[in-house]
Amino acid sequence: MKSSAQLRDSVEDALAHIPYPTQPARLYQPIQYALTLGGKRLRPVMMLMAYNLWRDDVENILPQACAMEMYHNFTLLHDDVMDRASLRRGKPCVHVKWDVNTAILAGDTMLALAYRLYGDAPGLDTFHEATIGVCEGQQFDMDFETLANVSEDDYMEMIRLKTSLLFSCSMKIGAQLAGAPEPDADDLYHFGRLLGLAFQLQDDWLDVHGNPSTFGKQTGGDITENKRTWLLIKAFQLANQQQREDMRSWMARGEFKREEKVQFFTHLYAQLGVGEACQSRVRQLFDDALDRLDGVDVPDARKEPLRDLAHQVMGRQN
Ligand code: IPE
Ligand code: IPE
Ligand code: MG
Ligand code: MG
Ligand code: MG
Repeated sequence: MKSSAQLRDSVEDALAHIPYPTQPARLYQPIQYALTLGGKRLRPVMMLMAYNLWRDDVENILPQACAMEMYHNFTLLHDDVMDRASLRRGKPCVHVKWDVNTAILAGDTMLALAYRLYGDAPGLDTFHEATIGVCEGQQFDMDFETLANVSEDDYMEMIRLKTSLLFSCSMKIGAQLAGAPEPDADDLYHFGRLLGLAFQLQDDWLDVHGNPSTFGKQTGGDITENKRTWLLIKAFQLANQQQREDMRSWMARGEFKREEKVQFFTHLYAQLGVGEACQSRVRQLFDDALDRLDGVDVPDARKEPLRDLAHQVMGRQN
């Protein structure tokens, strides 16, 4: 049984050895830049951990684990264009360092490279579910920016698609590649789903409350882009009439000073206690995730790396 540090090293090494050409340089340099910027590698590590519950030869599924990480990095290139973000992992985004067209094409290539890496291994259907679902979630995310009313349920479904599916499907694919019993694969899927939901709520929280020097992304980006985050939806629920009108008026402004808008929402969230409410929802989802992990029928000690990883994810600062 391998620790998360050992598995992360294996993923890092495998990613560094993925074969792709060097020319045209303007296509492959941004890909290399994205893959070597130092992400947390959560999804491939989770896939390997799920597999490792039953089998020790984790190196056998490194191509599929790398395919998941490649796909994730593709989504980040395009997400940063869509969200007009400037920083990723503490460095300029690809569309800033190069340009938008470069980010689009490098992203497209990474999607194709991800499928080539996956090959025809078992679990391909689950990989499809993840890759298509993320795009659906990203579309809802953009649609919601201009919708008048977005409910908490709408939001939870949107983040299930855009974020949580890569966690749930990584867990399920790991189980499928190991030939695990279906009920166990299902429990792992739901563990990943609930952890992924908690992860995105935490991401929304960090976007407002994160420490800019460790977060690696520019804070306040969700506020400037009118993203329907859990915090904003909760604020609308808790606000009085005047506060609601003020929020709507800020969101309708085409031109504004970035710091002023961010400060208005940050201050209001603090007044309404929205940050604390978010943290308590995160803890609930996290506990529910661990309950699903308890259901998996393997000796408890084998699940320890997954439990550790879940704790690391929840305590993350980036
Ligand atoms: C970022 O995911 C995208 C979200 C779903 C919030 P990660 O926080 O896992 O990104 P890296 O790969 O570690 O940078
Ligand atoms: C994450 O949404 C979903 C995907 C990247 C597919 P965010 O837009 O919140 O992710 P970050 O905050 O930019 O990493
Ligand atoms: Mg984004
Ligand atoms: Mg986004
Ligand atoms: Mg975010």
